[in-house]
Amino acid sequence: MSVVTYELIENIGVIRLNNPPVNALSHALREGIQDAINRAQEDASKALILICEGRTFIAGADISEFGKPPKAPSLPEVISAIEGSAKPVIAAMHGTALGGGFEVALACHYRCALSSAKVGLPEVKLGLLPGAGGTQRTPRLAGVEAALELITSGAPVAANKAAQMNLIDRVIDGELLEGALDYARELVTAQAPARRVSDLMIDPASAPAELFEGFRSKLAKRARGQMAPQLIVSCVEAAVALPIEQGLAKERELFIECLQSSQSAAMRHLFFAEREASKVKGLDKDTPKREIASVAIIGGGTMGGGIAMNFANVGIPVKLVEIDDEALARGLSIIEKNYSITVKKGKLSEAQKDQCLSLIQGTTDYADLADVDLVIEAVFENLELKKEIFAELDNSCKQGAILATNTSYQDVDQIAAATRRPQDVIGLHFFSPANVMKLLEVVRGDKTADDVIATAMALGKKIHKVPALSGNCYGFIGNRMLRHYAREAQLCMIEGGTPEQIDSVMQDWGMAMGPMAVGDLAGLDIGYKARQGLTDEQKGDPKTYCIADALVEMGHLGQKTGAGYYRYDPETRARITDPEVVEVIETQAKAHGVSRRAIDNSEILNRLTCALINEGSKILQEGIAQRPGDIDVVYVFGYGFPAYRGGPMQYADTVGLKRIHDTIVMFGQRYGEEYWTPAPLLKELAESGKTFAEWARGK
Ligand code: 3HC
Ligand code: NAI
Repeated sequence: MSVVTYELIENIGVIRLNNPPVNALSHALREGIQDAINRAQEDASKALILICEGRTFIAGADISEFGKPPKAPSLPEVISAIEGSAKPVIAAMHGTALGGGFEVALACHYRCALSSAKVGLPEVKLGLLPGAGGTQRTPRLAGVEAALELITSGAPVAANKAAQMNLIDRVIDGELLEGALDYARELVTAQAPARRVSDLMIDPASAPAELFEGFRSKLAKRARGQMAPQLIVSCVEAAVALPIEQGLAKERELFIECLQSSQSAAMRHLFFAEREASKVKGLDKDTPKREIASVAIIGGGTMGGGIAMNFANVGIPVKLVEIDDEALARGLSIIEKNYSITVKKGKLSEAQKDQCLSLIQGTTDYADLADVDLVIEAVFENLELKKEIFAELDNSCKQGAILATNTSYQDVDQIAAATRRPQDVIGLHFFSPANVMKLLEVVRGDKTADDVIATAMALGKKIHKVPALSGNCYGFIGNRMLRHYAREAQLCMIEGGTPEQIDSVMQDWGMAMGPMAVGDLAGLDIGYKARQGLTDEQKGDPKTYCIADALVEMGHLGQKTGAGYYRYDPETRARITDPEVVEVIETQAKAHGVSRRAIDNSEILNRLTCALINEGSKILQEGIAQRPGDIDVVYVFGYGFPAYRGGPMQYADTVGLKRIHDTIVMFGQRYGEEYWTPAPLLKELAESGKTFAEWARGK
């Protein structure tokens, strides 16, 4: 079937695009559009409509074609053909007109859209900038400031808002083609010309130098380390300063620069990895799913409250179970406070808040759980307690209910064995704050049924999370790797680093927060308490936890006590260097026979990242993660790993596995092989010159 068809309806030429699933601008589509525009110049049509079949208008360039040899016609050539048409071309949009798709619409002479449609230029989320006129035409229509905001945020805007911004001429309610035909007929009757956005001028007075500088410095913070947002500002600046042809040439040059960058390669990798992570190998996509119309959460503490909000936000009623009325009231009041903050930020209305709150009901009685479809346990991290609760759930819940645990480390199989229905038990590991963080690690137990896994993956998407499957092991994918990262952070600190140095190395490299600041945020007492139940052998080398223990014992529990690795300003919560902490580090170093030395930044970076990558290799080889991309998704969406580095495994592929391997061997010679022996898979790939991605493709 042809991806582009052309038909005359009376005197209106209708160009229909049909390239499922999202009408991405593949080579065939580009060629088809260009041919249709050329053909229409010769026939009896008076105006042309560009409209799409399926679920959406064009959602952008075909991302999978990037990095392959380009095939003519290029998108700028197609766009130039559209804008150059002597007959007015009208874009008729539904769904999401994004990126190159919206640039096609901007090249049309008139734009209409269903009120449910959204338009935007999300290229920045792929480490790119709009490369087909978006940075030149948007400011000509919407003004410079609005264009900068739209393009640097990458966030789509609804049709009505786009109309207010002058990006859409008409919002249509009802049937799109009918509405577009009416609009076209009106334009023909009025003898409306082929009005070209590129003919518009931008008043330089509307775009003073300070506006661009303001955006540059705002973006240096908001999009720390990323090149595309800064280059977008340069393109919009060019739109003001240069004639359209030169502006377009500048945009193309900078687009190619972004396209060839490792940042964009990493972000495009993540785009596909995120989508692939929700697919479970060996599970048919038509696997039946259980209906989840009601949920119960056991434990309304830090995690339980946030988890409850996720379901209420999408209209699913939640029962929140606590040990007593006091704990319940505390849990519910934190939820209420969190919603109020969102209202204050203008992201939720009072009515929406009330609606969400009305969906969350507290109880202290397990008998109230008889009818729920899914239970998520989020009580203290204690295996015996969790087993007791699952035995209780087995008695209280209906057959077919899914019983999930939010445990961070415990064995899902042991928890499942506390019930008579291990096939219905699964791990649903949310990340803190659970109403904000996007990752959902779905942990498959030995006996977890296929339809339970399929349901969990679909549910994850429904509550707007990014689900990734993990096998069952201590810490699953994310926390298992994190232990090695945290170990090296502690060792770098006792050997000579300071919290500030280690945090700033990792933060400057792109991590959302450094490891010590994360420790203070989570609370140093959590690890301390977890260690209390362990034998010395289980705890491992005291050098990896003695500083944290000493801080906890002097009351430094982290942000909650105003002091941890740092002190915190009581008003602003700003981090303040604490000389007392340096004393603690020095005392502990002495007590453990470590002579401190100057440790350089590159060593810190290499030790922390190589520790992650080595453990990631083991996780891959053991089949705990399905693919390297899944590990990347876990780290970017759950642990603040910089998206523009693509995740630990993509980063390793970019650096080169031989280099990573050799660095680990070198650390082994310096610091001993206990922590520093290359994982067998890493060694094999380094020797054969392959990447993790190539290994995954060959499986
Ligand atoms: N190119 C190639 N494939 C794409 C694609 C694109 N632009 N957009 C989506 N797809 C694929 C997805 O990989 C997925 O494939 P799969 O089924 O095999 O996993 C399938 O289409 C459906 O996508 P989603 O699962 O994301 O579907 P949703 O309905 O949830 O979302 C969407 C639809 C909002 C369109 C979302 O897919 C999206 O945001 N796409 C990317 C939009 C974008 O970034 N456009 C800019 C591209 S860069 C560009 O245009 C450069 C230009 O300026 C020159
Ligand atoms: P928390 O201590 O803040 O909350 C636990 C809650 O469970 C308390 O309010 C307690 O009253 C309640 N509770 C205890 N026993 C109960 C019972 N029998 N019935 C009903 N309620 C009971 O703990 P937090 O931090 O929310 O952790 C919960 C679980 O989530 C743990 O397994 C933890 O490992 C996991 N987790 C924690 C993360 C975090 O950052 N805090 C991140 C991801 C997972």
